[in-house]
Amino acid sequence: MLDVAFTPAEARRAEVSVVIDVLRATSTIAQALAAGYRRVLCVDSLERALTLDAPGRVLAGERRCRRPRGFRLGNSPAGTRPPLGDELILATTNGAPAIVAAALLSPRVLAACLLNLEAVVGALREGDIQLVCSGVDGRPALDDAYVAGRIVARLEGPRSDAASIAERVAAAYPCGREALEASASARALVLAGLEADVDDCALESIVQVVPRVVDAGEGFAALTLK
Ligand code: MLT
Repeated sequence: MLDVAFTPAEARRAEVSVVIDVLRATSTIAQALAAGYRRVLCVDSLERALTLDAPGRVLAGERRCRRPRGFRLGNSPAGTRPPLGDELILATTNGAPAIVAAALLSPRVLAACLLNLEAVVGALREGDIQLVCSGVDGRPALDDAYVAGRIVARLEGPRSDAASIAERVAAAYPCGREALEASASARALVLAGLEADVDDCALESIVQVVPRVVDAGEGFAALTLK
């Protein structure tokens, strides 16, 4: 069964969970691994990120779209190029905690966005697949639902009503850029002067990477390409 959780709170146990935070956490993760970071460590708080700071590690993240104090990078995908270290420690409001939570529910957790849409679709086979939208502060987000619908549209097999809803949402937009621009997340980024990030995250299938959780524990989940 192919299913969609429009918020992390709706997520259930599933063989495969595909977490989506297209604006911007999963776009940053895909871009960071494509750019050459060996590992992205998603964490559930700024405090945990600060305790993990070490040589070779680069702190990245956001609060209210902006780079937190003491962090080297914000949450812009473009900021991950070129890599400034071996490992990106990523603390964001919704996306990073959604990945940490999904790792407790599924043995296989992938990160999806528009940048790696084709690669993620190619990595999925029919089965118990749950697309987990990170949403915003516990509410559904149009941008994430759009990407979930794009993935649903590409997969065969039985689907839940939630998956059909996401597919219909995606079909309502002529392109990813228009769907992203219609979202509250994009408006928040524009207000913060980060409209270039919306453009960057709307690009489709420009990286052939499928970030995958390879290790997880209290408050963290590590993603690599292996
Ligand atoms: C999040 O995790 O909430 C987002 O990635 C927010 C953002 O990029 O500003």
